[in-house]
Amino acid sequence: VAQDILWILLGLLLRLEPGTATLPLLLDSVIQALAELEQKVPATISSHAASALLLFAQDSGPDDVLHRFLLERWDIKDTRLDPRQLSPEFQGLIKDVAQHGIRGRQEYGVVLAPDGSTVAVEPLLAGLEAGLQGNRVVSLPLDSTAAPLDTGAAFPDTGTVVLDIRAASPRFRDASPDGTSSDVGASSPDAPVTSPDVQASSPGAKAKSPTTVDSLLVVTLARDLGLAFLQGPQTWSHSGLGTEGCWDQLSAPRTFTLLDSGASPVTMAFLNGALDGALLGDYLSRTPEPRPPLSHLLNQYYGAGVAGDLGLRSNFRRQNAAALTSAPTLTQQIWRALVLLQRLEPTHPQLQGMSQEQLAEVATNATKEFTEAFLGCPAIHPRCRWGAAPYRGSPRPLQLPLRFLYVHHTYMPAPPCTDFARCAADMRSMQRFHQDTRGWDDIGYSFVIGSDGYVYEGRGWHWVGAHTLGHNTRGFGVAFVGNYTAELPAKAALHTVQDLLPGCAVRAGLLRPDYELLGHRQLVRTDCPGDALFSLLRTWPRFAA
Ligand SMILES: *[C@@H]1O[C@H](CO)[C@@H](O)[C@H](O)[C@H]1NC(C)=O
Ligand SMILES: *[C@@H]1O[C@H](CO)[C@@H](O)[C@H](O)[C@H]1NC(C)=O
Repeated sequence: VAQDILWILLGLLLRLEPGTATLPLLLDSVIQALAELEQKVPATISSHAASALLLFAQDSGPDDVLHRFLLERWDIKDTRLDPRQLSPEFQGLIKDVAQHGIRGRQEYGVVLAPDGSTVAVEPLLAGLEAGLQGNRVVSLPLDSTAAPLDTGAAFPDTGTVVLDIRAASPRFRDASPDGTSSDVGASSPDAPVTSPDVQASSPGAKAKSPTTVDSLLVVTLARDLGLAFLQGPQTWSHSGLGTEGCWDQLSAPRTFTLLDSGASPVTMAFLNGALDGALLGDYLSRTPEPRPPLSHLLNQYYGAGVAGDLGLRSNFRRQNAAALTSAPTLTQQIWRALVLLQRLEPTHPQLQGMSQEQLAEVATNATKEFTEAFLGCPAIHPRCRWGAAPYRGSPRPLQLPLRFLYVHHTYMPAPPCTDFARCAADMRSMQRFHQDTRGWDDIGYSFVIGSDGYVYEGRGWHWVGAHTLGHNTRGFGVAFVGNYTAELPAKAALHTVQDLLPGCAVRAGLLRPDYELLGHRQLVRTDCPGDALFSLLRTWPRFAA
């Protein structure tokens, strides 16, 4: 039934007339729409019927040749079903979030999740669908002439889905769909990022053509990452990947504006949706029937707070995705996605005339950037996300890169914040205190670390803070929310400050590679960052005595 529901939803995405959503663009609204479908669609409707709906819908929808090839089930195209199962406001909502896209600085097809992240719905649903199909290893058509897919008529049998028992493995990196020696994806997950055609460099050897793809990784992440790099490696930079944005309002969000014009389509919201689709799809592909209703699964995954299974929580999507797929595997799948797209669409403007070796280089570059600038970085909620008041006066720029990281605890608020609503409220109250009571221009810290899996932007990377008297121009001030006199921050929060945040800042040229870390009390007469936390800091390799 889960699959029926999803097909109907996907069908509606593509079939509805453009509408004006009356519902706020919240992920909870999407989950409610799913729940309504789950209630209204009788359990007797076969998933075949629902699949056919999507098929029908796509006749008039925009053509996505890759989704058609990997996700549609062509054996069942004759069945018909009335798609208008949803109430009008849900139809309007689904129409509004149907497709991910950017026009000017507006990003479309995204919703605000309970954890404060913004999520693109399209890659999320594609991942759910790929996961529900179970068999993720899909054979590639042999070559472009053998796959006349652009006719749109009878679909050839070249897209046979083959079952590979390794696809049921809990880890992508264990799956070696080809079983060939050239499959770098089968090597150690810790192996450095290498080109998938390493064998091509030996004299006389040609890169081996891929024969399969992992449909789940391709429809969520690999295709779009690869294409983003094809679009123009020259103009592409760190800031192009994972661009954040701001909602017009947080309680009833309707429009999302990117902070950076000229952003790559691989925005933060897209990456979030893609990782969520991959993680949930992986879970579904390993879960035997009967599967849980999708609305329940999504409620658990996105639910506020960090209780429950950390392995399946939106708050920890980056860590969990890093465990799900290795860099060599992702490189392989990006390469295969581009090769597949080239075969399905021989006249693709970006792919025409590209050799497999060139595509392999694109895949290697894309994986490296994705791993270093996104997966290996902490998730940082921008100021607008927690409802920051404007800076008072004009901020002074820092001279980057800085040498120091100063560690604080907030002391007040004393309880650690464990969900987005609490952490955001704590940020606002600290900013009020610093601005109104202390008379500062802004919240003092550069960054604040929640126990909800997120970092909250204070003054950020570029502006002088007010955290460590006499030293504010020399280091970033990073504060854990809580009172760590007698207790330690959450493990994930500690990992963020010890490894993720500085590592990411060094790679981006914001922090010197020989940076040092100090406790507030080493520079100013104070108990901050608390006895328990300070004792731990002393054991960290970058601690400066
Ligand atoms: C890949 O990255 C290297 C090193 O930055 C660069 O020289 C090369 O042009 C890139 N290749 C592609 C296809 O983007
Ligand atoms: C901070 O923790 C210490 C040790 O548990 C406690 O004595 C102190 O009262 C706490 N302060 C606040 C503001 O909660």
